[in-house]
Amino acid sequence: MKNILITGGAGFIGSHTAVELIGAGYGVIVVDNLSNADTTCLEGVEKITGQKIPFYKADCCEKEDMRKIFGENRIDGAIHFAAFKAVGESVDRPLMYYRNNLLSFITLLEVMIENGGGGVVFSSSATVYGQPDKLPATEDTPRKPATSPYGNTKQICEDILLDAVKAHPSLKGMILRYFNPIGAHPSALIGELPRGVPNNLVPFITQTAAGLREELRIFGNDYPTPDGTALRDYIDIVDLATAHVSAFERMTGHNPDGSCEVFNIGTGRPLSVMELVERFMAINRVPLKYKIAGRREGDVEAVWADTSLANRVLGWKACRSVEETLANAWAWEKKLRRLK
Ligand code: UD1
Repeated sequence: MKNILITGGAGFIGSHTAVELIGAGYGVIVVDNLSNADTTCLEGVEKITGQKIPFYKADCCEKEDMRKIFGENRIDGAIHFAAFKAVGESVDRPLMYYRNNLLSFITLLEVMIENGGGGVVFSSSATVYGQPDKLPATEDTPRKPATSPYGNTKQICEDILLDAVKAHPSLKGMILRYFNPIGAHPSALIGELPRGVPNNLVPFITQTAAGLREELRIFGNDYPTPDGTALRDYIDIVDLATAHVSAFERMTGHNPDGSCEVFNIGTGRPLSVMELVERFMAINRVPLKYKIAGRREGDVEAVWADTSLANRVLGWKACRSVEETLANAWAWEKKLRRLK
């Protein structure tokens, strides 16, 4: 059995990925400093899979802690999710973002090399494309200068991995650029757990529907899009998690020297903010108070993925409908809030 270390494995994407890897026969080890998560989702992963997950509460920036984890486990590969991810906060606290997001990744790579290398997946973001000149965005769409320190850390970490893989033949790399991950596991045992007021659209919607927030503000209805609201590519969290299983299969079966492949992980379908809100209300038969507000600074008008490379090369495709995804997101929120 191959063992994969998941950094940030107690979080939203990490926990869903752990479930899918275990389901595909991998062993999973989680390291998370719980700075933006608690153990709720880890417990959920254990319930879903019926397995005890080896868990280290540690910071990936701490080299000795990372050495200890590698010393105590046979680790064949890693997925690096551990990072700060709030765009606005990164503008206010850039040094904290650069220190945490860059140092944690460098430390992981250094300790992997010390321990014989392996495959490493870096969780990147569609944010690297900014507002693409041509849509959908392919992996060759030029990266735009980042508009926030958060976005910049994604670009720099991509470059770090590309260079590291070139220089260290024991390492294999893969960059996955996620579009907008939403939803929750159909069991409602794991899902998104934002701290404080959510920045992202779907957790704000579910919290508003659950009565925690007064109303949703739709940021801008004057974009040059069919209904004036911004377009995104919302991908189901379980679909996104399964892409990591395909990523490791690819890295095991295929070994082009020094290459680090890049894949878009999205659905290829654009959806507007307004459409998403309407579908949420329709599928869940729940009202949602919303109003149109001004544009949010830093938002792009439209971005969605060309996923043909991932479909062809990884043999992976997003298959869940947005309705199914929004029903799962609502089921998770209701369970958290003990609503019927
Ligand atoms: C953001 C990050 C992206 C990250 C992603 C994680 C940027 C610019 N964006 O994407 O890197 O990977 O989160 O999911 O770096 N909206 C509202 N009202 C709200 C919240 C959002 O109308 O209360 C709108 C936004 O204006 C946007 C859409 O919903 O048009 C999606 O927003 P959000 O969920 O925050 O994701 P992004 O900004 O696309």
